[in-house]
Amino acid sequence: MKELILVTGGTGYIGSHTVVELIKEGFDVVIIDNLSNSTTESLDGIEQITGIRPDFEQFDLLDLQRLEQFFASRPSLKAIIHFAASKAVGESVEKPLLYYRNNLNSLINLLHCMVVHEVSPIVFSSSCTIYGQPRELPVTEQAPILPAESPYGNTKQICEEILADSISAFNVLKAISLRYFNPIGAHPSALIGELPRGVPNNLVPYVTQTAAGVLPELKIYGNDYDTPDGSAIRDYINVVDLARAHVTAIRRLIAGKNSEPLEYFNLGTGKGTSVLELVQTFEQVTGVKVNHRIVGRRAGDIEKVWADTTKANETLGWKAIHSLDETLLSAWNWEKRLRDIK
Ligand code: UFG
Repeated sequence: MKELILVTGGTGYIGSHTVVELIKEGFDVVIIDNLSNSTTESLDGIEQITGIRPDFEQFDLLDLQRLEQFFASRPSLKAIIHFAASKAVGESVEKPLLYYRNNLNSLINLLHCMVVHEVSPIVFSSSCTIYGQPRELPVTEQAPILPAESPYGNTKQICEEILADSISAFNVLKAISLRYFNPIGAHPSALIGELPRGVPNNLVPYVTQTAAGVLPELKIYGNDYDTPDGSAIRDYINVVDLARAHVTAIRRLIAGKNSEPLEYFNLGTGKGTSVLELVQTFEQVTGVKVNHRIVGRRAGDIEKVWADTTKANETLGWKAIHSLDETLLSAWNWEKRLRDIK
């Protein structure tokens, strides 16, 4: 019998890649998604890649009654991977209540149903944003959690606290919180990938859309940081590598191999790349020029951050394997497919 995993937000960017890896590893998957920031086309992509169309239920996790019906109707549910959340940093500053309502209540409702129906474990999507600008690099899981720069970042911090308090209170619960660095790229088939709404905020979709001629010019936010070339540094992690980490985490929890009821892991490559390096690498591997210009710093940006991946490598038994070259090429192949560029 295959084990059934609920993936919330499973039609979205990281969710859809994780569903593919779960199916490949022999799990049954059911997705809940309200399609607020994704479409069912990702289900077509998942089906083309794996030959299996995952079960899909369209509703909002804020609808507790519907969620309770869902749990009642799936007594064989084995574990949960929770991606569903609002994720735009800038939007969260304009619409804090939306972010707190969506991101906190969806987790609260899930945990409520997990306790009532005695379903556990859960893997939670957290973010390196909780570390702010760390004093020491690379960042370990022990680094202090600094006051959040945005309501979005604050929801990730509060969700980790909600998980910790719930796990202390209810013996049935256990969880892994995965703190992502900067996820980029697409599935090598170019059948699933990131679909930003409107003009992208993140660097790589901006780069690919500029290369495709959809956007006129990439603005590089700042060349006066205390870094070798003056542009800001991040740890860019391939989305398929990230997806694989979720399968590893869910297996660890199901097998009871976790050393504590709530574990935290940083998911990155361990290597920092500057904005200018990333643009140069993109141009080299694709042979396509990216029209760009240096402008002032973007408000709220940190200077540099990259992960210490020792705990993920040694304790979780996971390592990022895709190079930045391959990952940028996959992002470009996905953009080309979206725009019908040969
Ligand atoms: N950048 C540009 N030009 C652009 C877009 C981005 O120069 O058009 C720069 C940014 O200034 C930054 C780097 O590229 O230095 C990466 O920016 P992203 O917006 O891609 O990513 P961030 O590191 O700002 O944010 C990401 C996620 C957040 C998450 C955060 C954690 O988008 O959800 O990482 O650090 F919270």
